[in-house]
Amino acid sequence: MRLPTTPTPIVLAPMAGGPGTPELVAAVGSAGALGFLPSGYVDVDTLRTNIDVVRSRIGGSFGVNLFVPAAPDAERLQRAEQYVARLAAWAETVGMQPDRPAYTDDHYTDKLSLLVEQRTRVVSFTFGLPDQEAVDALHDVGSSVLVTVTNPEEASAAVARGADGLVAQGWEAGAHQGGWLDSAEHWGVLPLLQSLVEQVDTPLVAAGGIATGRAVAAVLTAGAQAAMLGTAFMRCPEAGTAPSHAAALHGSGPTLMTRAFTGRPARALSNELASRFDAVAPDAYPEVHVATSRMRADARSRDHTDRYHLWAGQAHALARAVPAADVVATLDGEARAALQRATLSWGAGAPAKPGRQG
Ligand SMILES: Cc1cc2nc3c(=O)[nH]c(=O)nc-3n(C[C@H](O)[C@H](O)[C@H](O)COP(=O)(O)O)c2cc1C
Repeated sequence: MRLPTTPTPIVLAPMAGGPGTPELVAAVGSAGALGFLPSGYVDVDTLRTNIDVVRSRIGGSFGVNLFVPAAPDAERLQRAEQYVARLAAWAETVGMQPDRPAYTDDHYTDKLSLLVEQRTRVVSFTFGLPDQEAVDALHDVGSSVLVTVTNPEEASAAVARGADGLVAQGWEAGAHQGGWLDSAEHWGVLPLLQSLVEQVDTPLVAAGGIATGRAVAAVLTAGAQAAMLGTAFMRCPEAGTAPSHAAALHGSGPTLMTRAFTGRPARALSNELASRFDAVAPDAYPEVHVATSRMRADARSRDHTDRYHLWAGQAHALARAVPAADVVATLDGEARAALQRATLSWGAGAPAKPGRQG
């Protein structure tokens, strides 16, 4: 199965939890990039409606992303319960209350069936490896399968399972890490990409900390077929990012990788909840996510930026509040210019720091 070719090698990352609206996916698709609709945290009917909206605007040239659920696990639930009890003690002091930790598979099977039924052009998986049946069912209807990987071991497993492409997600990336195998190494996008180019023949999409056309050019020259960007689109008017979150992205505040919000490593702007609980947050997704999601949504609706997950990649300060089509056009133009400018003769007169276009 081949990955779709688009006029520009730019991919909008799936962004669950609000930012990744159908309008944003349609806008980047109309601008010549490939958009991914998230399916995380929405029910099957909402996903169907969102797919219909995108399809009515741009036809079928877009992807949909699925979270692969881990199996239920009693020890993980216990870890989540202990953590949420600590969190609750603080939360009460600021007028918040978490729910009880619980398992969910986020309607995985029904969502997968919907995507097969819809003959979705590309389906990307994160948080785990889809089983062989899922991959075969998608291939049977002509869908391409992408799997997010964060280290070489996951890449080997995904290729063996029949993935048509890999999303090589670096440690710089905003929000959750999509990996599922323990790794002693936290791979940055360039080291990961360079390693995977040597290791596999499968097309690679690079993700993590990419915010300019120069960085798009960098990952293309390092062997990626396309660059996937999330945070860089979060301030677009078509995105569903909460205004207080979008405003925080504009600042130069530091990010951290933390399990404090959901029980799974995710990169966010540092805030009070993250810095209080990062050190004690367990590996316990989705149970911690379930316990904290209502409380975080409430904090977000009140603009309490110290108490909810301000997902952000490391290059968040470069995200611009302009229409998505302008982001795509600027990235494309900058990338082409950067590729032309690239030279092997150091100091041969190339400007040391080219200005941004657009
Ligand atoms: C707000 C937000 C939500 C995200 N949601 C998802 C998701 O639903 N599925 C997924 O595979 N990746 C998700 N990601 C991760 C992206 O796929 C991608 O790896 C990341 O955005 C790349 O790093 P960048 O944000 O620095 O561009 C999300 C990222 C952000 C910023």
